[in-house]
Amino acid sequence: MSEGGNLKTPSQIAQFYVPPGFIDLGLGDPQFSLLPLDLIRQAAQYRLGQNDPEFLQYGANQGDGTFRRSLAKFLSRGYGCPVEPDSLFITNGASMGLHLICTLFTRPGDTIFVEEPTYFLALRIFADHDLHLVPIRTDSNGLLIESLEEKLNESDPKFLYIIPTFQNPTGHTLSPERRKRLVSLSRQHDFLVVVDEVYHFLSYASQPPEPFAVYSEAGNIISLGSFSKILAPGLRLGWIQANAEIIHRFINSGLLDSGGGMNPFTSAIVGRLLENGTLDQNIAKLIATYRARISVMDAALRHHLPDVQYTLPRGGYFFWIRLPNQMNATELQHRAEAFQVGFRPGALFSCQGGMQDYIRLSYVFYEADELAQGVLRLRQSLDKIDY
Ligand SMILES: Cc1ncc(COP(=O)(O)O)c(C=O)c1O
Repeated sequence: MSEGGNLKTPSQIAQFYVPPGFIDLGLGDPQFSLLPLDLIRQAAQYRLGQNDPEFLQYGANQGDGTFRRSLAKFLSRGYGCPVEPDSLFITNGASMGLHLICTLFTRPGDTIFVEEPTYFLALRIFADHDLHLVPIRTDSNGLLIESLEEKLNESDPKFLYIIPTFQNPTGHTLSPERRKRLVSLSRQHDFLVVVDEVYHFLSYASQPPEPFAVYSEAGNIISLGSFSKILAPGLRLGWIQANAEIIHRFINSGLLDSGGGMNPFTSAIVGRLLENGTLDQNIAKLIATYRARISVMDAALRHHLPDVQYTLPRGGYFFWIRLPNQMNATELQHRAEAFQVGFRPGALFSCQGGMQDYIRLSYVFYEADELAQGVLRLRQSLDKIDY
């Protein structure tokens, strides 16, 4: 992300700008007060105080070895399965990982498969690479395997891009059975699966199914992770987990050969947070905060908008809401502006102009009372539409 799009503050500080008094429930950027300034300050002071300038040097192409060991320990614990430091490649975030995958594994005009709907800014990255997109249908248990099988009979994708856990925008999670079927289909038809797992650690109910990272030794699974959702997006730090052959492709790319490993400076600071357990504390705080906000937003939606449909988010950042009577979300968006409330219309997340009667709301940027106020304003905007 950034979810803010192209809007700029007058001083160009953040990627988005919200006019005073406006509540943009479409924003998927964490609230400023949730950005862990103290933790970063302490970790930076510790690392800078070590008097070792190595992290100011061009870094190892795969990412700093000490950092990868700490990250592997964190992931092994969080995933409940062993993760090897050598299976990790450090990125500047999932977006950059996705861009690099497109650069190395596709050529303009190639076909890839995406979920319908999918993360709208991934669609922008795919457009930069001139890829041909084929949508695969989804339901509340994620990707529909029958839809995938149907499309595989028609074309060979270079890869399938999927967000299996607490998806953006739907919040849905791919069931364990479908995960297994997908992995076996990908082997049978020999295509790559690019798995964006950035919301895996933001789980508010039961544990999510095993991440795809557990299949990464298979050779055709590439898992993307990021510190953007569990620490801070401005760090621009993430990772790719894959088998040795794929990691080798990344390490030997021209980009890495020229610039060295991604973000050695930030890795050194975040490494401290991995080692001293403060990252875990930060995740626990985010989970408690978002869980409480979901219940406020759910109550406000039930009260003010009983005529919409959604499933309660069990993780991640979003409510995915179906408007009544096939109402057009883009039209509603124009009306909502007059009531000083915003959201993301569903069509943004479709590569074929679908999802017109859906909207995406997020709870990460606003306090509970502002969320409730935003939902009330949505009600007022809806009342202005004849349906
Ligand atoms: C599914 C998904 N992937 C990737 C990103 C961006 O991640 P990063 O900040 O690591 O580039 C986002 C952010 O909204 C996202 O929702």
